[in-house]
Amino acid sequence: MKKTPSRRAAPLFEVRHSAIHGYGVFAVRRIRKGTTVVEYLGDRVSHAQADERYKDKSADDNHTFLFTVDARTVIDAGVGGNEARYINHACDPNCESATENRRVFIRAIRTIQPGEELSYDYQIQRDSDDAPDIDEVYACRCGARTCRGSMLEAPKKPRKLVHRAPSRVAASGAARKRVTRRGVAGRTRRRGR
Ligand SMILES: C[S@@+](CC[C@H](N)C(=O)[O-])C[C@H]1O[C@@H](n2cnc3c(N)ncnc32)[C@H](O)[C@@H]1O
Ligand SMILES: [Zn+2]
Repeated sequence: MKKTPSRRAAPLFEVRHSAIHGYGVFAVRRIRKGTTVVEYLGDRVSHAQADERYKDKSADDNHTFLFTVDARTVIDAGVGGNEARYINHACDPNCESATENRRVFIRAIRTIQPGEELSYDYQIQRDSDDAPDIDEVYACRCGARTCRGSMLEAPKKPRKLVHRAPSRVAASGAARKRVTRRGVAGRTRRRGR
């Protein structure tokens, strides 16, 4: 009997140990700029549910599989997540995260050669009540010449005084700190763009 040829495309990447941290995701084929590499999948929960799940983790544990979609939803890739959860942060990344119709995709922003580690900038949100050592807790080990030393978003430049009510809507995300604060401030916490 004739074998039906498999239509499954050859994988673009594999998961293995990374020099940056733990496991990472590495290209096994050339990935062209603009390619949607993988969707960031996992359990979709509210910010309050994410807080409840990880409330007992220590404040100096920076490990997170959480990704903020918007003010309502966080993807917890620790539950039902796929390989996307192993993509590490880098300050000069070759991918970006993009939120479309409340789904999150990882897309190549330049052509990636086989063997290169995939990365995107987590841009984890800073909050007014962050501990003074927050940048040490979230220290970046990407090794880029332009490494900003932190997985958190770059500190905002002091702004001119503007009379505007603070926004309560979270920007859509990249990586999210492990646990949000309680109350309104908690709901505004997000990671990345
Ligand atoms: C989504 S996981 C990425 C996969 C992770 N390497 C693993 O094995 O589970 C995100 C976590 O990996 C670590 N991580 C990712 N990028 C990093 C970086 N550039 N420097 C230091 N730690 C990093 C942090 O603990 C972060 O919370
Ligand atoms: Zn870095």
